[in-house]
Amino acid sequence: MSEASQDILTHLEAGVLTITFNRVDKKNSITSAMYGAMADALQAAEAEPSTRVVVLQGHETIFSAGNDIADFLHRPPTPADGSHPPVFRFLHGIASFSKPLIAAVCGPAVGVGTTMLLHCDLVYAGDNAAFSMPFVNLGLCPEAASSLLVPQMMGYHRAAEALLLGEPFMAEAALEVGLVNRVLPPSEVTHYAQSVARKLAAKPMGSLMETKRLMKKGQMERVHQQMDEESVVFGRLLSEPAAKEAFGAFMERRKPNFSQL
Ligand code: COA
Repeated sequence: MSEASQDILTHLEAGVLTITFNRVDKKNSITSAMYGAMADALQAAEAEPSTRVVVLQGHETIFSAGNDIADFLHRPPTPADGSHPPVFRFLHGIASFSKPLIAAVCGPAVGVGTTMLLHCDLVYAGDNAAFSMPFVNLGLCPEAASSLLVPQMMGYHRAAEALLLGEPFMAEAALEVGLVNRVLPPSEVTHYAQSVARKLAAKPMGSLMETKRLMKKGQMERVHQQMDEESVVFGRLLSEPAAKEAFGAFMERRKPNFSQL
C-alpha cells in the first residue's frame, strides 16, 4: 500500500463513498500525495454511477491541520509553470464536484481544513470543532476561493476578522455564520453524516445533481478564476521572507518574528 493510500482511506458502501484523513500523528495535515489521492478519488466518484454521495471526514479529535508544512517547503506548488500540482487538482475538483458532498468535522480544521468546507454541500461539526484560516499569520493569502466565498457567506467584516486575524472560531460560531449545518457531540458526528448521506443516496440522482448545479452555476466560473488568482499570489508569497519565517518558526516551535517584514 502506498503512503498516500494509508493516509487517505476510501470506503464505498450503499452508494456512499467515505474519504477519511488517516494521518492523525501529524494532525491529518495534507501532503501533496494526499491531495493527489483525494483528487483521484473525487474524479473516480464523479465517473462511477455506484457512487452517489461522498462524505469527507477526519478523526474525532482532529479534522485537518491543513497543508503539511514540511511538504510545502520541500515541494511548493507552483501553478505558474503550467503543471497541475495535486493541491490545485483537488481544489478545482472539489469546487466542481457534481454529486452531494458532506463533511463531518471534529477538532481543529486549519487552513484548507476549513476552506475545503466552502465546497461541501452539508457540513456537520462536533462541538469540539475549531475552524481557522491563519493564512496571513503564515505570510500567505487565502486559497480555495475563500477570499471570495468567506465574505459572501459571513459578510465582509466577519470575513475580515476570520481572514486577517486568522484566529480560531468554534462550532457554534460557525453554525451562526452558516459554515456548518448542525453541531453535535463529537462521538455522533460521523454516524449522523452517514445517515444523511444514505438519505441523499436514496434520492433520484438526476434531481440532486441538477439542483446542485443550478444553485452553483451563477458563480462557478468566478470561483475557479478566484482560485487561480489566489494560487499565483499564494505561490509567490510562499517563497518570500514572511512565509519562510512563519514556517521556520512552526518547525522550531517558536513565535514568528515579522517585525522587520
Ligand atoms: N504540517 C506538518 N506537520 C504538522 C502540521 C502541519 N500543518 N500540523 C501539525 N503537525 C505535526 C506537528 O509537527 C507534530 O509533529 P511531531 O509530533 O513529529 O512533532 C504533530 O503534528 C502534532 O502537532 P502539535 O502541534 O504538537 O499538536 P497540537 O495538538 O498541540 O496542535 C494544531 C494541533 C492543529 C492546532 C497545531 O498542530 C497547528 O496549529 N498546526 C499547524 C496548522 C497550520 O498552520 N496549518 C496551515 C498550513 S498552510
